[in-house]
Amino acid sequence: MPLEMGKVRLVGAGPGTVDLMTVRALRAVETAQALLYDALVADEILALAPAGCVRIQTGKRAGKTSMKQETINRLMLRLARRGLNVVRLKGGDPSVFGRSGEERAFLEAHGVEVDVVPGVTAASAAAAQFAFPLSHRGEARRIAFATARVQDGSVVEGGWSGLADAETTLILYMARDAARAAAARLMAEGRAPGTPALAVENAGREDARILSTTLSMLGEDVENAAFSGPVLLVVGEVASQARAAYAPSLRAASARS
Ligand SMILES: C[S@@+](CC[C@H](N)C(=O)[O-])C[C@H]1O[C@@H](n2cnc3c(N)ncnc32)[C@H](O)[C@@H]1O
Repeated sequence: MPLEMGKVRLVGAGPGTVDLMTVRALRAVETAQALLYDALVADEILALAPAGCVRIQTGKRAGKTSMKQETINRLMLRLARRGLNVVRLKGGDPSVFGRSGEERAFLEAHGVEVDVVPGVTAASAAAAQFAFPLSHRGEARRIAFATARVQDGSVVEGGWSGLADAETTLILYMARDAARAAAARLMAEGRAPGTPALAVENAGREDARILSTTLSMLGEDVENAAFSGPVLLVVGEVASQARAAYAPSLRAASARS
């Protein structure tokens, strides 16, 4: 008798600690029969998977290379065809720069049922941890989640004019190495050089660090900070409200402590 097709869940693990996972995400991991996880997923979360669960690392960790998206898609399909309950675990929210659209389209085209379990995205974790809001009445009426980087690692060329508006809180994902270029493009489009800006490393975790600066200094300050973990950039008036609870070794010029 043919096996019943398994299901794939694209699950958001949040920013890295178990207590910032949703209950639904926690249950999905605890009942997974196969777990494909990204580099940003913390070990304490992986430890929740049951003993017999097949674990496959798909992201770059400890010097290993990342799997190609096509390989990940095929692997999920193969495991689902074996009738397994597959969990594809990603840092933050799978819908925010998490390729959930591509993975869902591929799996559904092959007849696999897909569920998405949302997670706390890095921007929300950073805002909560360092006490600044993402929106603020009369000051930040819009929030933009953007990336400065395209697939080949270069800086995104177009679209900056829409992000230069003074009442927008701009969150840049995957922008650590493009901070200088991103800041230059925003200023060229009219965003004021004195606009408060932040870089947050390892948001939501105990070892999080925050750097508080201005748009004109963002590139230089980020380069000098030599971050090694995942980094989020925040540009906008709300950044001036950040409190540098964890900034022992970084300049925290405008952050209240
Ligand atoms: C491929 S994106 C995934 C984003 C993820 N889906 C989310 O919702 O947070 C990876 C980028 O997210 C940001 N990021 C993820 N986790 C982070 C964290 N804990 N602290 C700061 N930035 C983080 C960094 O900009 C990193 O380069």
